[in-house]
Amino acid sequence: MNHMPLLPALILSLGFAQPAAASSERAVPRTRSVAEVRATLASMPHGNVQRGKQLNQGLMCASCHGDDGVAPTQNWTSLAGQRATYSYKSLLDYQRGGRHENPRATLMQVAVKGMSRQDMADVAAYYASLPAKAAPAPRLDAAAHARAERLARRGDPTRLLTPCASCHGAAGQGGLNETPALAGQSVGSFVRTMRDYRTGRRITDANQGMRQFAERLTMQEIDELAAYYARMGKN
Ligand code: HEC
Ligand code: HEC
Repeated sequence: MNHMPLLPALILSLGFAQPAAASSERAVPRTRSVAEVRATLASMPHGNVQRGKQLNQGLMCASCHGDDGVAPTQNWTSLAGQRATYSYKSLLDYQRGGRHENPRATLMQVAVKGMSRQDMADVAAYYASLPAKAAPAPRLDAAAHARAERLARRGDPTRLLTPCASCHGAAGQGGLNETPALAGQSVGSFVRTMRDYRTGRRITDANQGMRQFAERLTMQEIDELAAYYARMGKN
């Protein structure tokens, strides 16, 4: 919290207010193909964990994401235990203007402005080295837990829903290439992300893969999945 001088009023207002309406009319880069994303990841520099730790402090990332990658409020995104390839890709997405789904994403575009690809790989390596912590989440009753677990592990063939675990891992640890970890993610961040995919405000998913899943889920299912994954981090 010693980095609060960074746009404090803006941060506070965004931390607690609802996101503003979409501004999807802006001219923005289109969603990328799987091949384009893979090519970007293939040239990712080797990350240095120690340097990443210093950058997390020095660039004030820690003021929103925490010294140890655990977000201090459920509105910010936790990065502890996140896969390095996904963090790296996300930082590039912000820098190229391809990730602009809500006013919070605008903060990130500012935060990454001066970063080199090496800097991005270093912070990504640092976050990947940290253990994902369980995030505060509403307690699910047995029926709700069973619903979330069924979707995560078995999906729903009647809606062409692939199990989340087949890509994100049975323990929410993330998967191949740019597939992120979900374990310990803040509930607010998770729900907002799913809503942004669903409405097409967030288009960083190659071939709009996540959008297809998010739009087939109800809001109640999204809330339950958010709590299910938030609790998967370590206590
Ligand atoms: C003012 C608060 C703030 C600061 C400072 C900040 N971030 Fe963020 N960051 C956010 C928010 C909020 C999001 C989610 C934005 C959204 O919904 O698109 C985010 C998203 C991210 C993501 C994508 C995570 C995901 O799961 O999609 C990464 C990686 C990230 N930030 C890294 C950094 C790094 C590295 C820095 C320092 C250079 C930094 N952030 C500085 C608030 C901040
Ligand atoms: C076919 C593989 C696949 C399946 C199945 C899948 N996802 Fe994803 N998911 C991805 C990929 C790849 C991304 C990263 C997309 C991007 O870069 O925007 C992602 C991103 C996400 C994110 C954003 C994470 C963050 O921190 O920004 C959430 C939340 C998420 N998925 C939840 C789910 C849930 C819940 C399910 C099951 C209903 C699911 N996913 C099923 C591949 C998948």
